[in-house]
Amino acid sequence: MNQDKLKLAAARAALDYIPQDAIVGVGTGSTVNFFIQELAGIKSRIEGAVSSSETSSNRLKAIGIPVYDLNAVSDLPVYVDGADEITPHLAMIKGGGGALTREKIVAAVARQFVCIADEKKRVPVLGNFPLPLEVIPMARSYVAREVVRLGGQPVLREGFITDNGNVILDVHHLNLQDPVEMETRLSCITGVVTCGIFARRPADVLILSTLQGIQISTR
Ligand code: 5RP
Repeated sequence: MNQDKLKLAAARAALDYIPQDAIVGVGTGSTVNFFIQELAGIKSRIEGAVSSSETSSNRLKAIGIPVYDLNAVSDLPVYVDGADEITPHLAMIKGGGGALTREKIVAAVARQFVCIADEKKRVPVLGNFPLPLEVIPMARSYVAREVVRLGGQPVLREGFITDNGNVILDVHHLNLQDPVEMETRLSCITGVVTCGIFARRPADVLILSTLQGIQISTR
């Protein structure tokens, strides 16, 4: 089975977590694109969506699902999103697609975070995937120097500007044995908008698509 089939299977399984008449939080990325495709089939059963990126919003609108401003939504029962890496404790690295800030905001609001991923994303410890940091452009060099002091090797994501008008530093070789601590330290650097570690607010449910079938883990 190829990776797209695994992603589709995870996306399909996430439909079981969508309550009737709910506004659904929708993330960003290739796995979520399959989820959006699956949502099309149940769109009459949901009220609409909030989304973590302009790209996902456009895809949702294109299939006729109303997209709400998060500020207009007081209750978000579920948020479905992918991950670049996820541990057995459901801590994640996110932001490979550059949408980490809006992803963290929607995840903060949601009562339940359902992560959909194929088995390649499962890791014992975070850190093989370069850690994305969204950074205010004028702070780029300062943040890079601070990251080096923490043992990381930052690389500017060339030619990429986030939906919020910022830049991304992809940080290699950081020690993420304690992801909560590193998330806190990186988030405290002035000029960092968002750190791509999702450990303080991890996923609540992991739908992992493997060659043997769907595996569900909860926190
Ligand atoms: C985007 C993300 C995505 O969830 C993450 O990159 C996984 O994407 P994909 O499903 O394409 O592997 O964090 O900012």
